[in-house]
Parts: sequence; structure tokens; C-alpha cells
Amino acid sequence: MADTILVTGGAGYIGSHIVVELAGAGYIPMIVDNFATSSPSVLPRLRRITDQPIPCTAGDVRDRAVMKRLFAEHAISAVIHCAGLKAVGVGEAQPVAYYDNNVGGAITLVEAMTGAGVKTLVFSSSAAVYGQPEKNPVPENALLRPASVYGRTKRMVEQMLEDVASLDAQWSIGLLRYFNPAGAHSSAQIGEAPSATPNNLVPVLAQVADSDAPEIAVYGNDWNTPDGTGVRDYVHVMDLAAGHVAAMAYLKRAGGVTTLNLGTGSGHSVIEVVAAFERACGRPIARRIAPRRPGDVAICYADPSRAQQLLGWRATRDLDAICADAWRWQVNRHR
Ligand SMILES: NC(=O)c1ccc[n+]([C@@H]2O[C@H](COP(=O)([O-])OP(=O)(O)OC[C@H]3O[C@@H](n4cnc5c(N)ncnc54)[C@H](O)[C@@H]3O)[C@@H](O)[C@H]2O)c1
Repeated sequence: MADTILVTGGAGYIGSHIVVELAGAGYIPMIVDNFATSSPSVLPRLRRITDQPIPCTAGDVRDRAVMKRLFAEHAISAVIHCAGLKAVGVGEAQPVAYYDNNVGGAITLVEAMTGAGVKTLVFSSSAAVYGQPEKNPVPENALLRPASVYGRTKRMVEQMLEDVASLDAQWSIGLLRYFNPAGAHSSAQIGEAPSATPNNLVPVLAQVADSDAPEIAVYGNDWNTPDGTGVRDYVHVMDLAAGHVAAMAYLKRAGGVTTLNLGTGSGHSVIEVVAAFERACGRPIARRIAPRRPGDVAICYADPSRAQQLLGWRATRDLDAICADAWRWQVNRHR
């Protein structure tokens, strides 16, 4: 009998791609999502891609009764915890809401898992836990000094999970620190669908290229980088999803906490990403230089060698593939 994996936040951008990869690997994925930043319209699309119905409970991970019932009614063997709020700027303005959702949600989830004896968990963490990196590429044992409320919520959950695992050796927990997920499934059925103005570069480029927005803002061109714009590690969302499937297999064998960077190991500047997106969409993209944003860093890219060593995982898709898939999704998403 195939393992049932609960994906919290599975209707969201990353979670939905993980659901597709899990189904492709023979798992039975199911979702709990409150649709705070996503829509149930992803469900029929997931069904089309995977050729199977994906059970989804509409509910909040902070709701004890909902979570208890989920574990009582389904033979869940592991959880991938993607549910969370991720807009860095909103987190600064609404810290309590971010701690409540991101830390509170993880607490309720772990309580429900403990009650049900389910002790295999992957947590969607973020490169935001590093803040300003001392050096690049960033290894997992780099200094952790998150520069935002969002990053602190992620680090707090990591710490809680480290404490949980240190008390009970039955837990097997993966803390996956994503760098900059981008791109979409090649079917163009699912992708990043921000309800508000997107914060991430690739969806902003997609909107501008599609003329929803007049131009992109480049936050600073005086960083200490080759072309003066910020350098980040863009990892294709399907590579990221494959990393979760690899982590699931690994966590079944390993115990304790395994912390892994999921990134490509190389960085691209904003100017390079704009150029790649122009190639993908075949049109020029207007840009304007804006002031640096507080908390931004010049360069941040992963040392992903530990994930390669332990999981046998590495990113296989490049920046051009990311932009081509993101553009295909942008063109198809309203159909
Ligand atoms: N996208 C990125 O750049 C990035 C980078 C690093 C880490 N992450 C983390 O990965 C996870 C997924 O991010 P995403 O990009 O798919 O974002 P997303 O907003 O598309 O998905 C998050 C999903 O969680 C759901 N959700 C939020 N709070 C919930 C709650 N309390 N109960 C139930 N469902 C809830 C939302 O409705 C949404 O479907 C998040 O935890 C995020 O912090 C994202």
C-alpha cells in the first residue's frame, strides 16, 4: 500500500508542485489548506496533471479539531509542512499575524502528529534564516541571523523541531531551506499565482511582460556585484519538488533532524534574470532603478552539496528553463 503524505499548504505555489511529484513517485498526496493565499481552482488542475483525485481538506493548520480529525480519519505516514505566510514586507508590518500563522501553525501540526504517532516531517524553511551571509556559497552551518520577522518565524520553527526531535528519537525531520524557487510545471496548468502584487522577481517579470504592470523595479544597482544588482540562487520549483520526494525517502531511513539547503549552487543577478526572461517571452521588459530595500543583501546563493550527498539530489533545470516555464504559465493561467 502506498504511503499517504499530507501536504499542508498544498494548494499553494510550492505545495502544488510537490503534490505532483509525490503522485508521480507513487505516493498518495493529500492537502490541507485554508486558501489564505491560494485558490481551490488548483485542485482540478492537479487532478488533470496527476490523473488522480487529490483529497483536500479546507481548513487551517492552527485549528486543533481539524488537524486531529485529519490524522484520525486518514492513515497519514508523513507530512510536508508548506502552509505559511511568506511576504517579507507584510511580516514586518504584521509581525503577530506572521508568528501566529507560521509558528502557531507548526505547533498545532506537531501536536496533532504527536497525538497520532506520525513522526516524519519535512518543513518548508528558507534561506531567510541566514540573513546577511558571511560568505557565498552558504553552507547549512553558516551563522543564522535572520533579518526579517518572516526569517525569524522560520528559524523559530526550526528550533522547535530540533527540540522535539532531541527528546524523542522516533522523529525524523527534514528542515529544507529553499533559496529562490521560481518557474512552473511544464504543463502550464499550475504555477505561482500571487493574489496580491508579487514580491518575487520572476512573477513580477511575468506580469510586466504580460502588461499587467508597466515596468519592473530593480532595487539598487550599486551593490558590490559584477553588474551592481542583487545576486540570488533561482531554483526551479519542479527541482525543488523533486528534492522533497528525495527527502521523504531519506527521512524514512534517517532519524533526528536533517537540515539541507535546496538551491542550485550558483547565483544570477537581477539584470541576468531580466535578460533571460526577455529571451523567454520574446519582448523587451522596461525597468526602473529603485532604492535598495531594507534587509536586502548583495549576494546569496546556496552550497547545496549536502543535499546532493545525502539525498542524491541536485537541481537540473537552468535559468532559461525557469523563465520559459514561468512565461508559459503566465500566458496560460487565465485560460
Ligand atoms: N516561494 C518562496 O520564495 C519561498 C522561499 C522559501 C520558503 N518558502 C516557504 O515555502 C512554503 C510555501 O510557499 P509558497 O511559495 O508555496 O507560498 P504560497 O502562499 O503559494 O503557499 C502557501 C499555502 O499555505 C496556505 N496557508 C497559509 N497559512 C495557512 C494556514 N494557517 N492553514 C492552512 N493553510 C495555510 C496558503 O493558503 C497557501 O496555499 C511557505 O512556508 C514559505 O514560507 C517559500
